[in-house]
Amino acid sequence: MNETIRLLMERKSVRQFVQEPMPREDVETILNAAVQAPSAGNMTLWTIINVTDPEKKLALSKSCDNQPFIATAPLVLVFCADYRRWFEVFKTLDLGEALRTPGEGDFMLAMTDTIIAAHATVVAADALGYGSCYIGDIIENCDTQREILGLPEYVKPVCMAVYGKPTPFQVERKKPPRFAISDVVHENSYRLQDAPEMIDMISRRQGLEGEALERHLIAFAKRKWNCDFSREMTRSAAQMIREWCEGK
Ligand SMILES: Cc1cc2nc3c(=O)[nH]c(=O)nc-3n(C[C@H](O)[C@H](O)[C@H](O)COP(=O)(O)O)c2cc1C
Repeated sequence: MNETIRLLMERKSVRQFVQEPMPREDVETILNAAVQAPSAGNMTLWTIINVTDPEKKLALSKSCDNQPFIATAPLVLVFCADYRRWFEVFKTLDLGEALRTPGEGDFMLAMTDTIIAAHATVVAADALGYGSCYIGDIIENCDTQREILGLPEYVKPVCMAVYGKPTPFQVERKKPPRFAISDVVHENSYRLQDAPEMIDMISRRQGLEGEALERHLIAFAKRKWNCDFSREMTRSAAQMIREWCEGK
Protein backbone atom coordinates (compact mmCIF):
# COMPACT_ATOMS: atom_id res chain seq x y z
CA MET A 1 0.00 0.00 0.00
CA ASN A 2 1.14 3.57 -0.67
CA GLU A 3 2.89 4.82 2.50
CA THR A 4 0.83 8.02 2.84
CA ILE A 5 -2.44 6.09 2.42
CA ARG A 6 -1.25 3.49 4.93
CA LEU A 7 -0.52 6.24 7.49
CA LEU A 8 -3.99 7.73 6.98
CA MET A 9 -5.70 4.33 7.27
CA GLU A 10 -3.80 3.21 10.37
CA ARG A 11 -3.69 6.53 12.24
CA LYS A 12 -5.16 6.34 15.73
CA SER A 13 -4.98 8.53 18.81
CA VAL A 14 -2.12 8.14 21.29
CA ARG A 15 -2.59 9.21 24.91
CA GLN A 16 0.56 7.85 26.58
CA PHE A 17 3.98 9.01 25.49
CA VAL A 18 7.56 7.90 26.06
CA GLN A 19 8.99 10.53 28.38
CA GLU A 20 11.75 11.94 26.20
CA PRO A 21 12.01 15.35 24.54
CA MET A 22 11.25 15.59 20.86
CA PRO A 23 14.28 16.60 18.73
CA ARG A 24 14.09 20.24 17.62
CA GLU A 25 14.26 19.37 13.91
CA ASP A 26 11.25 17.06 14.24
CA VAL A 27 9.25 19.82 15.96
CA GLU A 28 10.28 22.18 13.12
CA THR A 29 9.12 19.67 10.49
CA ILE A 30 5.78 19.24 12.26
CA LEU A 31 5.29 23.01 12.51
CA ASN A 32 6.34 23.49 8.90
CA ALA A 33 3.63 21.03 7.81
CA ALA A 34 1.13 23.56 9.23
CA VAL A 35 2.82 26.50 7.54
CA GLN A 36 2.75 24.67 4.19
CA ALA A 37 -0.96 23.75 4.49
CA PRO A 38 -3.52 25.55 2.31
CA SER A 39 -5.28 28.54 3.81
CA ALA A 40 -8.09 30.80 2.62
CA GLY A 41 -6.58 33.50 0.37
CA ASN A 42 -3.15 32.31 1.61
CA MET A 43 -3.83 34.44 4.69
CA THR A 44 -2.81 31.81 7.28
CA LEU A 45 -5.63 32.79 9.60
CA TRP A 46 -4.14 31.04 12.62
CA THR A 47 -1.42 31.14 15.22
CA ILE A 48 0.01 28.05 16.85
CA ILE A 49 1.05 28.32 20.47
CA ASN A 50 3.80 25.81 21.22
CA VAL A 51 3.33 25.25 24.95
CA THR A 52 6.74 24.35 26.40
CA ASP A 53 6.31 25.70 29.96
CA PRO A 54 5.51 22.68 32.22
CA GLU A 55 3.29 24.86 34.42
CA LYS A 56 1.20 25.94 31.46
CA LYS A 57 0.94 22.32 30.28
CA LEU A 58 -0.30 21.42 33.76
CA ALA A 59 -2.77 24.32 33.74
CA LEU A 60 -4.10 23.20 30.33
CA SER A 61 -4.38 19.60 31.53
CA LYS A 62 -6.75 20.93 34.22
CA SER A 63 -8.64 23.49 32.13
CA CYS A 64 -9.18 20.88 29.37
CA ASP A 65 -11.43 18.61 31.40
CA ASN A 66 -8.70 17.23 33.68
CA GLN A 67 -6.74 15.09 31.24
CA PRO A 68 -3.37 14.41 32.96
CA PHE A 69 -1.58 13.14 29.83
CA ILE A 70 -1.59 16.72 28.48
CA ALA A 71 0.81 17.75 31.28
CA THR A 72 3.41 15.12 30.34
CA ALA A 73 3.14 15.24 26.54
CA PRO A 74 6.49 16.12 24.89
CA LEU A 75 4.80 18.48 22.43
CA VAL A 76 1.63 20.46 23.12
CA LEU A 77 0.25 22.72 20.38
CA VAL A 78 -2.76 25.01 20.68
CA PHE A 79 -4.17 26.17 17.34
CA CYS A 80 -5.84 29.57 17.48
CA ALA A 81 -8.07 31.07 14.82
CA ASP A 82 -6.45 34.47 14.31
CA TYR A 83 -7.77 37.41 12.33
CA ARG A 84 -5.98 39.95 14.50
CA ARG A 85 -2.83 40.23 12.38
CA TRP A 86 -4.70 41.01 9.15
CA PHE A 87 -7.22 43.29 10.85
CA GLU A 88 -4.37 45.33 12.36
CA VAL A 89 -3.05 45.88 8.79
CA PHE A 90 -6.51 46.66 7.38
CA LYS A 91 -6.88 49.34 10.09
CA THR A 92 -3.81 51.19 8.76
CA LEU A 93 -5.21 51.45 5.19
CA ASP A 94 -7.24 54.23 3.66
CA LEU A 95 -9.95 52.27 1.86
CA GLY A 96 -12.07 55.36 1.23
CA GLU A 97 -14.90 53.69 3.13
CA ALA A 98 -15.57 52.44 6.65
CA LEU A 99 -13.64 49.31 7.59
CA ARG A 100 -15.89 46.45 8.61
CA THR A 101 -14.96 44.42 11.68
CA PRO A 102 -14.46 40.61 11.82
CA GLY A 103 -17.73 38.66 12.04
CA GLU A 104 -19.04 35.11 12.16
CA GLY A 105 -18.00 34.28 8.57
CA ASP A 106 -14.46 35.40 9.26
CA PHE A 107 -14.44 33.24 12.39
CA MET A 108 -15.59 30.17 10.46
CA LEU A 109 -13.05 30.74 7.72
CA ALA A 110 -10.24 31.22 10.24
CA MET A 111 -11.45 28.08 12.06
CA THR A 112 -11.29 26.11 8.81
CA ASP A 113 -7.71 27.28 8.18
CA THR A 114 -6.79 26.43 11.75
CA ILE A 115 -8.17 22.89 11.70
CA ILE A 116 -6.54 22.14 8.33
CA ALA A 117 -3.20 23.29 9.74
CA ALA A 118 -3.69 21.19 12.85
CA HIS A 119 -4.32 18.04 10.89
CA ALA A 120 -1.27 18.66 8.72
CA THR A 121 0.83 18.57 11.91
CA VAL A 122 -0.87 15.37 13.08
CA VAL A 123 -0.15 13.61 9.78
CA ALA A 124 3.44 14.91 9.69
CA ALA A 125 3.98 13.71 13.25
CA ASP A 126 2.67 10.26 12.27
CA ALA A 127 5.04 10.16 9.30
CA LEU A 128 7.94 10.82 11.71
CA GLY A 129 6.82 7.99 14.03
CA TYR A 130 5.05 10.14 16.64
CA GLY A 131 1.55 9.62 17.97
CA SER A 132 -0.87 12.41 18.77
CA CYS A 133 -4.24 13.15 20.27
CA TYR A 134 -6.61 16.03 19.63
CA ILE A 135 -7.99 17.79 22.70
CA GLY A 136 -11.47 19.15 21.96
CA ASP A 137 -11.78 20.52 25.49
CA ILE A 138 -9.66 23.56 24.54
CA ILE A 139 -13.04 25.03 23.46
CA GLU A 140 -14.19 24.94 27.10
CA ASN A 141 -13.40 27.51 29.80
CA CYS A 142 -12.48 30.23 27.30
CA ASP A 143 -11.64 32.80 30.01
CA THR A 144 -9.15 30.43 31.62
CA GLN A 145 -7.57 29.42 28.29
CA ARG A 146 -7.25 33.10 27.32
CA GLU A 147 -5.45 33.81 30.58
CA ILE A 148 -3.11 30.81 30.32
CA LEU A 149 -2.19 31.62 26.71
CA GLY A 150 -2.41 35.43 26.81
CA LEU A 151 -4.84 35.70 23.90
CA PRO A 152 -5.86 39.13 22.52
CA GLU A 153 -9.04 40.01 20.60
CA TYR A 154 -9.75 38.13 17.34
CA VAL A 155 -7.61 35.20 18.52
CA LYS A 156 -9.57 32.17 19.76
CA PRO A 157 -8.36 28.64 20.60
CA VAL A 158 -10.31 26.23 18.42
CA CYS A 159 -8.11 23.18 18.32
CA MET A 160 -5.35 21.52 20.32
CA ALA A 161 -3.21 18.42 19.96
CA VAL A 162 -0.52 16.67 22.00
CA TYR A 163 2.29 14.62 20.47
CA GLY A 164 5.04 12.20 21.40
CA LYS A 165 6.48 8.73 20.88
CA PRO A 166 3.77 6.17 21.71
CA THR A 167 4.39 3.75 24.56
CA PRO A 168 4.41 0.04 23.51
CA PHE A 169 0.91 -0.36 24.98
CA GLN A 170 -0.37 2.47 22.77
CA VAL A 171 1.25 0.93 19.68
CA GLU A 172 -0.58 -2.34 20.38
CA ARG A 173 -3.93 -0.70 21.23
CA LYS A 174 -6.53 -1.52 18.59
CA LYS A 175 -7.81 1.35 16.46
CA PRO A 176 -11.51 1.97 17.17
CA PRO A 177 -13.71 0.83 14.25
CA ARG A 178 -15.25 3.31 11.80
CA PHE A 179 -18.56 3.59 9.94
CA ALA A 180 -18.80 2.21 6.38
CA ILE A 181 -18.19 4.73 3.58
CA SER A 182 -21.73 4.23 2.28
CA ASP A 183 -23.08 5.11 5.75
CA VAL A 184 -21.57 8.58 5.78
CA VAL A 185 -21.01 9.59 2.14
CA HIS A 186 -24.11 10.71 0.24
CA GLU A 187 -24.23 11.31 -3.50
CA ASN A 188 -25.30 14.72 -4.85
CA SER A 189 -27.79 15.53 -2.13
CA TYR A 190 -28.38 14.80 1.52
CA ARG A 191 -30.09 11.49 2.25
CA LEU A 192 -32.09 11.61 5.50
CA GLN A 193 -31.10 8.85 7.92
CA ASP A 194 -33.58 8.09 10.68
CA ALA A 195 -32.81 6.75 14.15
CA PRO A 196 -33.22 3.02 13.27
CA GLU A 197 -30.76 3.37 10.36
CA MET A 198 -28.27 5.22 12.56
CA ILE A 199 -28.65 2.61 15.32
CA ASP A 200 -28.00 -0.09 12.70
CA MET A 201 -24.84 1.77 11.62
CA ILE A 202 -23.63 1.87 15.22
CA SER A 203 -24.56 -1.79 15.72
CA ARG A 204 -22.48 -2.86 12.70
CA ARG A 205 -19.57 -0.61 13.71
CA GLN A 206 -19.46 -1.74 17.33
CA GLY A 207 -20.47 -5.36 16.73
CA LEU A 208 -23.23 -5.01 19.32
CA GLU A 209 -26.92 -5.98 19.32
CA GLY A 210 -29.97 -6.02 21.59
CA GLU A 211 -29.51 -5.09 25.24
CA ALA A 212 -25.74 -4.71 24.94
CA LEU A 213 -26.24 -2.15 22.16
CA GLU A 214 -28.90 -0.30 24.19
CA ARG A 215 -26.55 -0.13 27.20
CA HIS A 216 -23.74 1.13 24.97
CA LEU A 217 -25.96 3.87 23.49
CA ILE A 218 -27.22 5.07 26.88
CA ALA A 219 -23.71 5.16 28.37
CA PHE A 220 -22.43 7.00 25.29
CA ALA A 221 -25.23 9.59 25.38
CA LYS A 222 -24.51 10.22 29.08
CA ARG A 223 -20.74 10.44 28.55
CA LYS A 224 -20.70 12.59 25.41
CA TRP A 225 -24.00 14.50 25.28
CA ASN A 226 -25.85 14.93 28.57
CA CYS A 227 -22.68 15.75 30.44
CA ASP A 228 -20.91 18.69 32.09
CA PHE A 229 -18.08 19.01 29.56
CA SER A 230 -20.37 19.34 26.58
CA ARG A 231 -22.61 21.87 28.34
CA GLU A 232 -19.53 23.92 29.26
CA MET A 233 -18.19 23.61 25.70
CA THR A 234 -21.42 25.03 24.29
CA ARG A 235 -21.40 27.92 26.77
CA SER A 236 -17.74 28.72 26.14
CA ALA A 237 -18.05 28.47 22.32
CA ALA A 238 -21.03 30.84 22.33
CA GLN A 239 -19.03 33.31 24.44
CA MET A 240 -16.04 33.09 22.08
CA ILE A 241 -18.17 33.74 18.98
CA ARG A 242 -19.91 36.64 20.73
CA GLU A 243 -16.59 38.14 21.83
CA TRP A 244 -15.11 37.74 18.35
CA CYS A 245 -17.99 39.69 16.83
CA GLU A 246 -17.71 42.37 19.55
CA GLY A 247 -13.92 42.68 19.14
CA LYS A 248 -13.03 41.31 22.57
C1 LIG B 1 -12.04 17.37 17.55
C2 LIG B 1 -11.54 16.21 18.39
C3 LIG B 1 -11.48 16.35 19.76
C4 LIG B 1 -10.98 15.31 20.55
N1 LIG B 1 -10.84 15.49 21.90
C5 LIG B 1 -10.29 14.53 22.65
C6 LIG B 1 -10.02 14.76 24.03
O1 LIG B 1 -10.27 15.84 24.57
N2 LIG B 1 -9.46 13.74 24.74
C7 LIG B 1 -9.13 12.55 24.18
O2 LIG B 1 -8.61 11.68 24.89
N3 LIG B 1 -9.37 12.30 22.88
C8 LIG B 1 -9.92 13.27 22.09
N4 LIG B 1 -10.11 13.06 20.75
C9 LIG B 1 -9.74 11.78 20.14
C10 LIG B 1 -10.97 10.95 19.78
O3 LIG B 1 -11.52 10.44 20.96
C11 LIG B 1 -10.56 9.83 18.80
O4 LIG B 1 -10.08 10.42 17.61
C12 LIG B 1 -11.71 8.89 18.48
O5 LIG B 1 -12.16 8.22 19.62
C13 LIG B 1 -11.29 7.85 17.44
O6 LIG B 1 -10.20 7.11 17.93
P1 LIG B 1 -8.81 7.08 17.16
O7 LIG B 1 -8.35 8.50 16.92
O8 LIG B 1 -7.86 6.35 18.12
O9 LIG B 1 -9.00 6.34 15.89
C14 LIG B 1 -10.59 14.09 19.94
C15 LIG B 1 -10.65 13.97 18.55
C16 LIG B 1 -11.09 15.02 17.78
C17 LIG B 1 -11.10 14.87 16.28
